[in-house]
Amino acid sequence: MSPPKACLVTFGCQMNEYDSGRLADLLAAKGWEATSVREEADFIFFNTCSIREKAARRVLNHVEQLRPLKKRKPGLIIGVGGCVAEQEGEALLRAAPWLDLVVGPQHLPEIPRMLENLARRAATGRGERPAWSRENLAGLGEAQGRRAGAGGLIGQVTIMQGCDNYCAYCVVPYLRGPELSRTAGDILDEVKRLIDNGLKDLTLLGQNVNSYGRGLAGAPSFPELLEQVAAAGVERLRFTTSHPKDFSPRLVGLFGRLGPLCEGLHLPVQSGSDHVLQAMRRVYSRESYLRLVDDLRARCPGLALYTDIIVGFPGETEKDFEDTLSLVEAVGYDAMFSFKYSDRPQTASLAFESKVPEEEKGRRLRVLQARQKEITLAKNAAHVGQVMDVLVERESGRYDGQLTGRARNFKLIHFDGPPSLIGQTVPVRVTEAWAASLRGVRVKI
Ligand code: SAH
Ligand code: SF4
Ligand code: F3S
Repeated sequence: MSPPKACLVTFGCQMNEYDSGRLADLLAAKGWEATSVREEADFIFFNTCSIREKAARRVLNHVEQLRPLKKRKPGLIIGVGGCVAEQEGEALLRAAPWLDLVVGPQHLPEIPRMLENLARRAATGRGERPAWSRENLAGLGEAQGRRAGAGGLIGQVTIMQGCDNYCAYCVVPYLRGPELSRTAGDILDEVKRLIDNGLKDLTLLGQNVNSYGRGLAGAPSFPELLEQVAAAGVERLRFTTSHPKDFSPRLVGLFGRLGPLCEGLHLPVQSGSDHVLQAMRRVYSRESYLRLVDDLRARCPGLALYTDIIVGFPGETEKDFEDTLSLVEAVGYDAMFSFKYSDRPQTASLAFESKVPEEEKGRRLRVLQARQKEITLAKNAAHVGQVMDVLVERESGRYDGQLTGRARNFKLIHFDGPPSLIGQTVPVRVTEAWAASLRGVRVKI
């Protein structure tokens, strides 16, 4: 009998990417093969995101599209995990009765057992129907241990989960629960295993990564943890996502000083208007954010900054929007993720009045994105002529003989070279710049 095949489809943030990676490892250990072709899969799993309404709706479309396949192939198991599963729970099973599994993020390590149960049920007509339930960090350590064995040049380690910030627009605290930090010992063990397996570029993950350690007795502070991880011997170190309000002076002080800490930082601002920031419950002001950016650049002049912005938050006036545009100009972000505000269940802003009309949100988004595109191009063009250290990740796939990698500031660079360079860090002189990547030539030393 050929091994069963699993097709994992991932949406949302790095938490979901990471969870899908863990699930892939757990399934592989049980003899499952991975496939990206839905028609040949025995198990299709959607790891979902609920951050905006559009994201959540997309999941149901995907599930709906599988209905004919499920009819043709009754043995097919279809599952939904991630944040839509957490949010909707059993309601999803009612909305789509051809679904077999709905599993909240914390329950993910149990999926292999649930699949065995389903198979047993199919064979004998007996066995428990896997129920929807919530559980905290069940089996996480075990799954992560295995994940660390997978190896790879570029890796991520979750150091904390959940979020206590309750920004007025955001579902994450309701779906991922309160902040929970892993112990430094656990984290360092995992990091060391990854390094032994060839890891060079490590990102520490958390929804609110720089509040690491809060509520965990004996935990190092986040800057201390960064120093410990750097000392474990990683070449490049990053973290995401950090909240400006938890950006301590000590953390600022590591930039430009802690060797592996890279010159690229994602620092979501959300809005440039004090009045909107306050309504969003972001706890910092435009001025304190700009001061933080100045402090960071004073320590690390080459720092590339990335951000998230929401346009059309309830009550956002034209003047507020212009404040956002002027902040974007003032900071000069290297790139940006921008979104139209969308109402989410349970959140505070759901009940806020003066919602901005959809067309107006669309207009503001277009204006913002057009402006940012020019800034991004200018930022990228400024690299032309510079030599950047590129960690070579893969053959580019677009042209023969072209390689692709990232600079320390996270920019993607293509250049010609032999595949034997994959995994190495090589100096590349930038010759051309586009909005999403750079092109260069290898500098021979
Ligand atoms: N923890 C991170 C990111 C959370 S979600 C942080 O604090 O920045 C990623 C991004 O989605 C957010 O930064 C925000 O810009 C956007 N987002 C979250 N909720 C949203 C909503 N209801 N409508 C539109 N965008 C939203
Ligand atoms: Fe959501 Fe705010 Fe927490 Fe980020 S910090 S996950 S935006 S509540
Ligand atoms: Fe989306 Fe859940 Fe992450 S809502 S952004 S997948 S925490």
